[in-house]
Amino acid sequence: MFDLLIVDARIVDGTGAPYFHGDLGVMGDRIAAVGRLSGQLARRTVVAAGRVLTPGFIDIHSHSDASYLINPLGESKVRQGVTLEVAGQCGWSLAPLEGAAVEEIKKDLEAEDEVEISWRTMGEYLACVEEARPSVNLAVVAGHGTIRGSAMGYDDRPPTADEAARMRLLLRQALAEGAFGLSTGLIYPPGSYATTEEIVALARELAPAGGVYFTHMRNEGARLLEAVGEAIRIGEEAGVPVQIAHHKVGGEKNWGKVKESLHVIEEARARGVDVTCDQYPYTASSTGLSSIVPQWAHDGGSEKLLARLRDPDTRRRLAAECVDSPDSWSGWDKLLISSVRSEANKKYEGKNLAEIAQERGQDPIEAAFDLLIEEELAVGMVRFGMSEEDVRAVMQHPWVMVGSDGSALAPYGRLGRGKPHPRNYGTFARVLGRYVREEKVLGLEMAVRKMTGLPAWRLRLWDRGLLRPGFHADLVLFDPDRVVDRATFTDPHQYPDGIDLVVVNGTVTVDGGEHTGARAGRVLRRGGSRCHGDN
Ligand code: ZN
Ligand code: CU
Repeated sequence: MFDLLIVDARIVDGTGAPYFHGDLGVMGDRIAAVGRLSGQLARRTVVAAGRVLTPGFIDIHSHSDASYLINPLGESKVRQGVTLEVAGQCGWSLAPLEGAAVEEIKKDLEAEDEVEISWRTMGEYLACVEEARPSVNLAVVAGHGTIRGSAMGYDDRPPTADEAARMRLLLRQALAEGAFGLSTGLIYPPGSYATTEEIVALARELAPAGGVYFTHMRNEGARLLEAVGEAIRIGEEAGVPVQIAHHKVGGEKNWGKVKESLHVIEEARARGVDVTCDQYPYTASSTGLSSIVPQWAHDGGSEKLLARLRDPDTRRRLAAECVDSPDSWSGWDKLLISSVRSEANKKYEGKNLAEIAQERGQDPIEAAFDLLIEEELAVGMVRFGMSEEDVRAVMQHPWVMVGSDGSALAPYGRLGRGKPHPRNYGTFARVLGRYVREEKVLGLEMAVRKMTGLPAWRLRLWDRGLLRPGFHADLVLFDPDRVVDRATFTDPHQYPDGIDLVVVNGTVTVDGGEHTGARAGRVLRRGGSRCHGDN
């Protein structure tokens, strides 16, 4: 007898193979059988009536590092069908922590999110997430920025030999305690201070552990191709797989460059470098507003950056550099303020900087700098800088996965603040609704593969990501005629439609589109699964 039996489904198994009509039975936390099973006994039978049954979606690029400590339900993710997230991306993880990184991360988290930083090592952090009993499975990579801040602080300089050794040791420990790899954020200080050689030396630690190098590259504008070259070189010299995060190009004069970069990636694959990418399906990006301030001004950490913004002479210099930076913008009206900390500035959330500047009677750049000072840097932004044609070209590439670059949010409580990028709620439903059904940019089977089998392969998870007997029962049942994202830039806290049933480790977590309150997610540790191939 099955615990759960789903009958009469259009089964899309995650490999990219064509769908077939059939049934799937779950026993405990595993898939017990796939095939013709109707008539067999089950504690619960769900009639799919031709809806699509797939493996649970794997969000290969997530920033849910703190989310489950704030709200374990993982609302905005699990309601999209996400059953596993990979956090610690873009160089920023919550472990391992020591030295200057402890204060820097506390500043980020404790004031606003009321998350108490009680851990130091990756193992201790993962145990804290486990204790929170999340609704979704979580895997984590160690962030280079966090490791660098831990070993040597936030100064713009190369590490000493001792500091470099400390970074390697911290990474080795994090890998031994379950991290799936290393991430860099080479536009964000302190990661941006690192040379290619510094990263190669660290990435070499990944090879014996079977870890992956994930990178938010040094440039996603005019110097995109150089940045892809650097990512490939790191993988090649360190002998490790490379995952290029949120592959895109910003700035109108750079549009089209992703076609060249995808070609460069194919050439690297052909000569044996294992490079793949992920992407979120929007023409707008999102990050902290402080990233518009030139790199040198971040030297020494956030307090020093604020001091420079307050100093009239330095500020003038920064403003001048910002305005004619070679990569810059398509205009201040394309830059939306998505979140602030203070009540006084809440009125700006969802407005663009041109509007805000006008309201304040200031230049846009002066308004941006003042906002950063008033909010002590805690200002989020959304920037419209990509072309739809490029988004489609990247999406159609066979080695590109779907990753939200967002975190688990909820329309209520502390995770419901501001006007965050809609990708936090909409990514997976948007690919299935808009790009598969409406615009036919890619086929259903290929889209599902990018959300399931491909990211599982990337993580070397040999017992998730496909519909196979013996695999963990992470499942999504959705209506292909109805599935659609509803989150918008002005009204982002909206769950998608059409994702009817989500099962995490055999437990029904979304039922009839509603969260059941189940918290059956697990913290995955690299090397921790018995089906694992890379021990
Ligand atoms: Zn990033
Ligand atoms: Cu990211």
